[in-house]
Amino acid sequence: MRIAICKTNSEAAALGAAEILTALRRKPDLVLGLATGSTPVGIYQILIRAHRNEGLDFSRVRTFNLDEYLGLGATHPQSYRAFMNRHLFDELNIPPEQRHFPPTEGDRLEEKCVRFEEAIRAAGGIDIQLLGIGRNGHIGFNEPTSSLHSRTRVKTLTPKTLRDNARFYSDGERPPQTAVTMGIGTILDARRIVLQAFGPPKADAIHAAVEGPLSSFWPGSALQLHPDVLFLLDEEAASRLSMREYYRQAWANEEEMRKAGVL
Ligand code: GLP
Repeated sequence: MRIAICKTNSEAAALGAAEILTALRRKPDLVLGLATGSTPVGIYQILIRAHRNEGLDFSRVRTFNLDEYLGLGATHPQSYRAFMNRHLFDELNIPPEQRHFPPTEGDRLEEKCVRFEEAIRAAGGIDIQLLGIGRNGHIGFNEPTSSLHSRTRVKTLTPKTLRDNARFYSDGERPPQTAVTMGIGTILDARRIVLQAFGPPKADAIHAAVEGPLSSFWPGSALQLHPDVLFLLDEEAASRLSMREYYRQAWANEEEMRKAGVL
């Protein structure tokens, strides 16, 4: 795992966006796993600028979102579909039929979840998966005790996640209690994973993900099983990492080796 402890969120976003832009220039039909929440927005803004200012073409890109609420229509402003339109899709030229979300409409959701997984495989698998992390360590909506081999399925949200999300809903509105999320196994199938985390509320989850024991109680720790994960953190999210000076040194060394063409 590679860990960059950044001075600002924008520095982290620039590093995350660079991963995607470099990959897209090499592979115009890149398959992206996308995340919602406040954390990835900086990356999305850089992608939009690259499209607008440099004419970077996204027309062959395929996207698969990590998760979606059950029971919110696609047009509800808090649905993840609406979020993605607002923060990315409305500004890029990815054709709508190339954007995929976990199934939340109609019945027979379990069968539709299997088809969602098949669609990822049919696209050739996810090249880069963007992730945030919840305060309780969830990735996507894989709440604590999610199986480390789980696939796309319905999950019930924990009280902590419900409390974190309550601020997005008006008084009297009942926030969704369930969601459909890629499983931890689905996420681990991605070729590369880029996880961003900012601010003091994420420090425990990052500590557990990077230095904790592998445990379904902290779903982020499953990333220790993946061969190519990049953590992009600010100082606050990194504040509980006991080996943070080592991670800084390792990052600086790697940068130097890259510049020298050794890597
Ligand atoms: C939600 C999403 C996660 C996201 C998390 C953190 O629970 N399902 O994918 O990582 O929120 O959100 P934020 O980036 O706003 O802190």
